[in-house]
Amino acid sequence: MTPTIKLSSGYEMPQVGFGLWKVDNKVCADTVYNAIKSGYRLLDGACDYGNEKECGEGVARAIKDGLVKREELFIVSKLWPTFNDPEQVTPVVKRQLADWQIDYFDLYLIHFPGALKFVDPSVRYPPGWQYEGDKIIRSKTTIQDTWRAMEALVDQKLARSIGISNFQAQLIYDMVRYARIPPATLQIEHHPYLVQQELLNLCKEEGIAVTAYSSFGPASFLEFGFKHAEAMVPLMKDPLITDIAAKHGKQPSQILLRWATQRGLAVIPKTSRAEVMAQNLDCTSFDLAQEDIDKISAKDGNIRFNQPSNYFATQKMWIFG
Ligand SMILES: NC(=O)c1ccc[n+]([C@@H]2O[C@H](COP(=O)([O-])OP(=O)(O)OC[C@H]3O[C@@H](n4cnc5c(N)ncnc54)[C@H](OP(=O)(O)O)[C@@H]3O)[C@@H](O)[C@H]2O)c1
Repeated sequence: MTPTIKLSSGYEMPQVGFGLWKVDNKVCADTVYNAIKSGYRLLDGACDYGNEKECGEGVARAIKDGLVKREELFIVSKLWPTFNDPEQVTPVVKRQLADWQIDYFDLYLIHFPGALKFVDPSVRYPPGWQYEGDKIIRSKTTIQDTWRAMEALVDQKLARSIGISNFQAQLIYDMVRYARIPPATLQIEHHPYLVQQELLNLCKEEGIAVTAYSSFGPASFLEFGFKHAEAMVPLMKDPLITDIAAKHGKQPSQILLRWATQRGLAVIPKTSRAEVMAQNLDCTSFDLAQEDIDKISAKDGNIRFNQPSNYFATQKMWIFG
């Protein structure tokens, strides 16, 4: 049984979920169905992943086949920056809910800080970063204005909990002063090469649950040809990780996930392989020695892979500057 984390909203969030970024549209409905069949109850989606319709098909089939009831699932989605103008928030959430074939999200996150100029879904959906061509255009909307619209989602019962992703400490310090509904979770890139301990400390102090994404570090970014991802020792081949895995009779992937879950974070590993799903889900049933946890944490090199400036050659966004 997957443990849960109690959120400030009062709802329980499964500590291990399934990630949906880069899940190909052709296999997405089956992947979601298989993930639910493997025991996952949290599904982590986003408008930007371009596969929410197929995710909805997988969920609908799982419910129809009696694998799960809607209320047993914890469905997460995210607000893309081009929809951060307050008047765009409710309409896009309704569209995303329709794609998922559900009437509320368990958790809805601001995907990245920094509003971008609205792109009409009839022009392009999902819109991506660029307004047109290679032009990235900012909107004048502040995060405070977007957060008010996020809070309205809770009032309208379109989202049970709301949160943020890719935010850093300065914004959180500000946000907790004006939020009527505080962010329930923060989702961040987190692996042994990017620990962000001070950000974790702040979230603990503020009662914000943290979800780690890209738990396997460079593995997710090799397909983009990132040189700094190729240059790193793959975490699943790192002798420290493989030695600890051998000691426990577990896979290196499970050690990486346990390092996060044992420290109180939620994880959302993605795999396209049905046989690996159950293995990744099983990352809370054993305990690492504190000494091993500390050794893994000591690998921190503040090396970030998922930042817009790594993806655009000419158009830069310095979100983590
Ligand atoms: N908020 C954000 O901005 C943000 C950004 C990035 C990701 N996310 C979320 O976090 C989720 C997870 O992150 P991620 O997709 O970047 O990558 P990840 O979970 O770190 O997985 C990276 C790669 O590792 C492989 N893998 C998975 N389990 C494995 C295992 N047991 N042994 C060996 N290889 C394994 C998978 O390839 P195979 O499919 O071939 O197994 C996958 O492509 C995403 O899907 C998304 O939901 C959020």
